[in-house]
Amino acid sequence: MPNKPILPLTYDPAGVFLPKTGIEPADLKALAPKLEAARREVLADVELWQSGGPVPKEKEPLDAGFIPMPERLLAEYKKDSRGSELGRLLGTANRLRDLVDRVVVLGIGGSYMGARALMDACCEPYFNELSRPERGSRPRMYFEGNNADNDASQGLLHLLGNGREAAGIEDRWAIVVISKSGGTMETAVALRQYLAALKRSCGNRQEMVPELVVPVTGTSGKLFELAKALKCPEVFPVPDGVGGRFSVFSAVGLLPAAILGLDVVRMLEAAAKMNEQFRNAPPGENPVLDYVGVSHLQEEKRGNTIRVLQVWSKSLECAGLWYDQLLAESLGKQERGATPLTAVNTRDLHSRAQQHQEGRRDKLFTNVIVDQWRHDPLPVGKSDLNQDSLNDLAEKTLPELMTAAIQGTNQAYREDGRPTADLHLPRIDEAAMGQLFQMLMLATVVEGRLIGINPYGQPGVEKYKQNMNRILGRK
Ligand code: PA5
Repeated sequence: MPNKPILPLTYDPAGVFLPKTGIEPADLKALAPKLEAARREVLADVELWQSGGPVPKEKEPLDAGFIPMPERLLAEYKKDSRGSELGRLLGTANRLRDLVDRVVVLGIGGSYMGARALMDACCEPYFNELSRPERGSRPRMYFEGNNADNDASQGLLHLLGNGREAAGIEDRWAIVVISKSGGTMETAVALRQYLAALKRSCGNRQEMVPELVVPVTGTSGKLFELAKALKCPEVFPVPDGVGGRFSVFSAVGLLPAAILGLDVVRMLEAAAKMNEQFRNAPPGENPVLDYVGVSHLQEEKRGNTIRVLQVWSKSLECAGLWYDQLLAESLGKQERGATPLTAVNTRDLHSRAQQHQEGRRDKLFTNVIVDQWRHDPLPVGKSDLNQDSLNDLAEKTLPELMTAAIQGTNQAYREDGRPTADLHLPRIDEAAMGQLFQMLMLATVVEGRLIGINPYGQPGVEKYKQNMNRILGRK
């Protein structure tokens, strides 16, 4: 059967071309040579990384491996649909589907946020509450090991039966533990605690334990060693040259997504399609370069250092938080880098909109707009109880209300000279998320090269860890 075409996401910056407070199309045109140079550098980074040759000091670390990863995984899968990484990953997902009803994903930062965002975006909103048949027999999924929060962690252990012996598939559960370094405190502590509960839940079937723990980690390190000691039959890699926050299209994001039954092949095809567009399309027709150009000019010319990603769907909140991390950890260096902020509308029109409309002029708004909803439009409906005066809107639907809110907000911001760009997703599915995530990762590294900040690595995060360890009495 021929593949369904991947509808492209589109980026429309018309709302940033404003007199006085915005930029002009000519500004964007003038920036094109620099954007193209940054693109060349990013692509040269990939070649350098692939060559395995020496990396100049100012480019270290060089984690350009995320860029060609979708194409590599797809090509390997095409050659060997069972033995390739993607094939094995799908096999593990099916094995877990047949064994357990709950999966706990342990990981933090880049080892957590992508998978969480994919679940929220692509699964039904109340997925974990659905019956097993309604979930297509896919396990419920929970995320822990992303905090040192006593009550949250115990809350989930309680839900899992506090180590009560599993009587059957309905109360059997598994762990996917994700840590590239294998030594991150929050995740390692959670693994110790959840593994103890898992062992108890296996009762006198202890031989099941290794099958119910799937580590995703680097090719060495503490978690790698623990996986060996535990004799886990499957360990998936976080490839070298792929940083945590750029790893959503490795096993880090793909394994949880596959466990949830998402179409990971289509997601990778969509990411590869974004790569192709990035490589070949000129500025003006290239969502990556255009997004970077607009964001950069807003910051440089107008001092708009706060980038608000306004997602117009609740299911994209975690995608916004994933982007918060991506931008903050990549470019928040050398006392520079824009500050990301996620707003979920229309919800946050009732919390942030006052400031966005009349507060400091330090923001660029990027709307993420869904063109087609998954479910049929729900009408307001006619009622005998018209005290709420809604009968005049009885025929209108929630998507129509949403569209009116988007247009009304854009108009209000525009009339007050508040720059706003629109990013349209044809719908929220694997194809859209593949494009969106690859676009934002590419944009982040292009911007880094444009402004001379290495987007890879996060040296600043080490400081708190050293202090924390010292306070805990460790060397
Ligand atoms: O983007 C990053 O590299 C970080 O956010 C890491 O993903 C995070 O610190 C977790 O690290 P690890 O996967 O080594 O446990």
